[in-house]
Amino acid sequence: MYLQGKHILLGVTGGIAAYKACELTRRLRDAGAIVRVVMTRAALEFVTPLSFQALSGHPVRTDLFDEQAEAGMGHIELARWADAVLVAPCSADFMARLAAGRADDLLSTLCLASDAPLAIAPAMNRQMWANAATQANRDALGARGVSIFGPASGEQACGETGEGRMLEAAELVERLSALFATGALAGRTVLISAGPTREALDPVRYLSNRSSGRMGYALAEAAREAGARVLLVSGPVALPTPRGVERIEVESAAQMFDAVMARIDEVDLFIGAAAVADYRPAAVAGQKIKKTASQLTLELERTPDILAAVAAREPRPFVVGFAAETQDLEAHARDKLSRKHLDMIAANDVSAGRGFDVEDNALEVFWADGHASLPQQSKARLARELVALIAGRMSGA
Ligand code: C5P
Repeated sequence: MYLQGKHILLGVTGGIAAYKACELTRRLRDAGAIVRVVMTRAALEFVTPLSFQALSGHPVRTDLFDEQAEAGMGHIELARWADAVLVAPCSADFMARLAAGRADDLLSTLCLASDAPLAIAPAMNRQMWANAATQANRDALGARGVSIFGPASGEQACGETGEGRMLEAAELVERLSALFATGALAGRTVLISAGPTREALDPVRYLSNRSSGRMGYALAEAAREAGARVLLVSGPVALPTPRGVERIEVESAAQMFDAVMARIDEVDLFIGAAAVADYRPAAVAGQKIKKTASQLTLELERTPDILAAVAAREPRPFVVGFAAETQDLEAHARDKLSRKHLDMIAANDVSAGRGFDVEDNALEVFWADGHASLPQQSKARLARELVALIAGRMSGA
């Protein structure tokens, strides 16, 4: 299951199968997803927004021109919020409106405005499904990359038997989850360093930094979803271990270096996302340092550069580094790319509160003969895009 923490926008359109979307909402939440429901006007004839509000734990939106709702999370924000959009049930009419690119109500507008994967679960009378118009719409949507879940065959609410029943909630959850499993790193082992390091001064004090570890953890999750075996060497952070990921906990840069090197021979890809301390106290006091002197000077020495050491190995994995810069992003990132002999570098602008210890981020990614800009978005989405980019470069695309 890859739905843990995923933002799922569930669109409910008008059809008798709308009641099944209630169970679907529950099951999506049971799978760890955060669900927001949008209903079309026709859906309101079958189920009430109150049911979905209770089941999803969020207010349900039905109207594009709802001043109050727009003042909260506006429709474009909602479109950006979604990691995936699932329309279930999807009526013949909604398929036609999607195929035509209409934006005449909230749900159709959201489908157009979101760049998240879109899936539909058609549900309608068998003749309506078999109609050439609906089939043409299905083909057009499929050709555009819309995932079409079902329909199933069987007895229909109208008393007929045939193809047109909405898939059961459990199967829709499975299929939606599978959308996140890209397989782009299938068969690969990935090692990711994440979080800050702590460099001891004495038994109770240390030097560290503000890294939350979020980017590294999001990358671990995205790499896992892409089918990789993932090892996460992590400094101290307050984050849960992503499901299916092997986490190796360390504190200092020296420990991180040792932990990475102990496993590096198993690895096809190394991503250095940790904010490793550049310096550590040259000597660690055996006892707590007393405040006797009016001034205290600390002598610091360099820590080993883990990323450069991995890149210097022969044979070596595909090596991706990070660069946090406050100015001349491209020049500094490209310099680091060549100096440390990396295959790729992801640079972020950490001036004015960006990048570190925040939810959203943007990345400029450089490699020897190319560049890609990954725009401002959640670290989870950014991680998926970066993993896709890395997988593409690794396979020579
Ligand atoms: O040189 P700079 O510290 O800016 O490089 C940042 C990149 O190098 C990051 O990918 C970071 O994880 C990695 N790094 C490392 N070991 C260090 C310092 C940085 O792996 N001692």
